[in-house]
Amino acid sequence: MSYKLGVIGFGNIAKAIITPLLDKQILKSEEIFCVVNSKNSCEHIKKNYSHNINISYASSKDSVLVWDCPLKLLSIKPQQLKNINELIPKNGRENFLISVLAGISLNKLQEIFPNHKCVRAVTNIPITIGKGLTGISWSEKIDDKTKILIKNIFESSSKVYEFAEDYLDVFLALTSSAPAIVALIIEAFSDGGLNGGLPKRLSEELVLEMILGTVLMIKDLRISTYEFKNMVTSPAGTTISALRVLEKEGFKSALIESILAATNRSKQFN
Ligand SMILES: NC(=O)c1ccc[n+]([C@@H]2O[C@H](COP(=O)([O-])OP(=O)(O)OC[C@H]3O[C@@H](n4cnc5c(N)ncnc54)[C@H](OP(=O)(O)O)[C@@H]3O)[C@@H](O)[C@H]2O)c1
Repeated sequence: MSYKLGVIGFGNIAKAIITPLLDKQILKSEEIFCVVNSKNSCEHIKKNYSHNINISYASSKDSVLVWDCPLKLLSIKPQQLKNINELIPKNGRENFLISVLAGISLNKLQEIFPNHKCVRAVTNIPITIGKGLTGISWSEKIDDKTKILIKNIFESSSKVYEFAEDYLDVFLALTSSAPAIVALIIEAFSDGGLNGGLPKRLSEELVLEMILGTVLMIKDLRISTYEFKNMVTSPAGTTISALRVLEKEGFKSALIESILAATNRSKQFN
């Protein structure tokens, strides 16, 4: 692929999306034009980033170069959106803008960027290690060729799913918020091991390996969670004793409610 990609905001998420494209030479560093807010950040990236991309800061004259790239990635915090002023691209081509901002709707994006066809992409933090999940919603009239191009950008670091925009909130809850809940579960299990007398580090290592093994077994053997649960639950055994406590404490219901809460919160941003 060869095109100029403009990147507005080059923080954690933008780096996680762009770096594998450069590492795998899907894009060349001279094809990337980034703008960040501060001169300090700009200097820091110039000095420390592993690829020699074009980078400028918002009040510099070079920042306009971003707007001439036909494809742009918008990766700032939602509250920083008010500081972005769309410049009309002078490239004489159709222009596309992909936003990874949580909760900013396609309608709102189209209002702010009337000279672009907008796309929403919800991605999650494991893209940092190439294990992300990305949900994409297209605004109308995006052609198939551009859809493939945009999907390719995220496929370097994640599995890509296409959704009607209505589903992006629950997608975000399940894929972006739930990792924090999983981290909490890991922490809680490790504390359980610690409470039983295991050293903290060993306890955490056991929990991580146990979760990895469980996930891979359910995934690779294609067994249902119900079947899996039955395989490890024997009559009057330890597992049913543990499960009984969780049932009594409303554990499953609490997890369902947590996803609902994150989904509703995401809807409020729109
Ligand atoms: N973190 C997550 O887990 C996650 C997951 C999925 C999606 N997201 C979404 O990804 C977006 C970015 O998150 P992040 O964690 O990467 O944020 P971040 O690390 O804070 O990066 C924000 C970037 O935006 C730049 N910026 C701010 N105002 C700007 C302006 N007026 N013009 C140009 N650049 C500007 C910042 O530059 P300076 O450094 O100079 O301030 C920085 O490079 C968010 O909208 C978030 O909803 C985050």
